[in-house]
Amino acid sequence: MSVVLTRTGIKMPLVGFGLWKVDKPTCADTVYAAIKAGYRLLDGAGDYGNEKEAGEGVRRAIADGLVKREDLFITSKLWNTFHAKEHVKPMAEMQLKLWGIDYFDLYLTHFPCSLAYVDPAHRYPPEWWGDDKKTVTLANVPYQETWTAMEELVDAGVAKNIGVSNTQGSLILDVMKYARYQPQVLQVECHPYLSQDPLVKLAKTLGIAVTAYSSFGPQSYFELGMGEGVTALFDQDAVASAAKRLKKSPAQVLLRWATQRGLAVIPKTNNEKRLMENLDCLSFDLTEQERDAINKLNKNIRLNDPADIDPRLAIFA
Ligand SMILES: NC(=O)c1ccc[n+]([C@@H]2O[C@H](COP(=O)([O-])OP(=O)(O)OC[C@H]3O[C@@H](n4cnc5c(N)ncnc54)[C@H](OP(=O)(O)O)[C@@H]3O)[C@@H](O)[C@H]2O)c1
Repeated sequence: MSVVLTRTGIKMPLVGFGLWKVDKPTCADTVYAAIKAGYRLLDGAGDYGNEKEAGEGVRRAIADGLVKREDLFITSKLWNTFHAKEHVKPMAEMQLKLWGIDYFDLYLTHFPCSLAYVDPAHRYPPEWWGDDKKTVTLANVPYQETWTAMEELVDAGVAKNIGVSNTQGSLILDVMKYARYQPQVLQVECHPYLSQDPLVKLAKTLGIAVTAYSSFGPQSYFELGMGEGVTALFDQDAVASAAKRLKKSPAQVLLRWATQRGLAVIPKTNNEKRLMENLDCLSFDLTEQERDAINKLNKNIRLNDPADIDPRLAIFA
């Protein structure tokens, strides 16, 4: 199953594989296993630090005849230190080189925050901080400048589709006023604790496809020492009881809750069994009552908020 993107009509798979925290030493094997299992969408980013290894997995899968490049939908993201117009294309091209491919199916701005440039020869990926791992240095790059440079990636054939991530309604509405190419995808944190109904409604109204990230809510953040005191979504009654009725796992229920709302999902796992399990999340339906019970878990708990790093990065305030 897929979502048809506006402007290009390209189909984006509804279930993809997320690459954040996929361990570098096993990343090529994991990507190969994901493709072998049937995943066709890979969600990467410069910031994940594993693009070279992910590309190795892709190359091996193509060499072994599992897929052709055109069967895959490869997403990457522009990091915040490269928002100035002169850095956008060189960075996207550098990322293509790391992957060993010649175009991205989708390229997103990772966060609408611009940070001081860091030369990749000095430090890559640069993350949020300076060399001291403490200081955050902002840059004065208006988002319009970055978006205009993103559009040039489409003209140059570097990216077939472009989109935004971690953006709220006000910024999306602003981009729509000047965009030559409107964002085709919005990728945001979305799970039953942060269901994002108004934002999803806005995106649907504007013809922007939505990809939900961190579908398992706090699960991804526990290993980073975050999400303390937040009950695992897997343990919530509304999720566990639907899983029991359907003889599916709570993880599969959470993914289906999103896809039944028309959202694409990109679960991540370093575990081969869960890789298969997560892909098999479209073969059953939750009832309206089950979906309603899960909807009631919304508490506006946001796990991924740059304001936790520096209050000047409060993009969701
Ligand atoms: N645009 C952005 O700013 C942004 C931010 C965050 C994430 N993302 C993207 O979204 C992807 C997914 O989000 P995410 O990585 O935060 O979290 P996620 O997919 O919601 O959760 C991953 C966590 O759940 C565990 N898990 C995976 N499948 C499971 C299953 N079937 N049963 C039990 N546990 C399971 C994983 O552990 P194991 O690995 O041990 O299985 C890991 O701890 C990322 O990889 C990335 O591509 C984008």
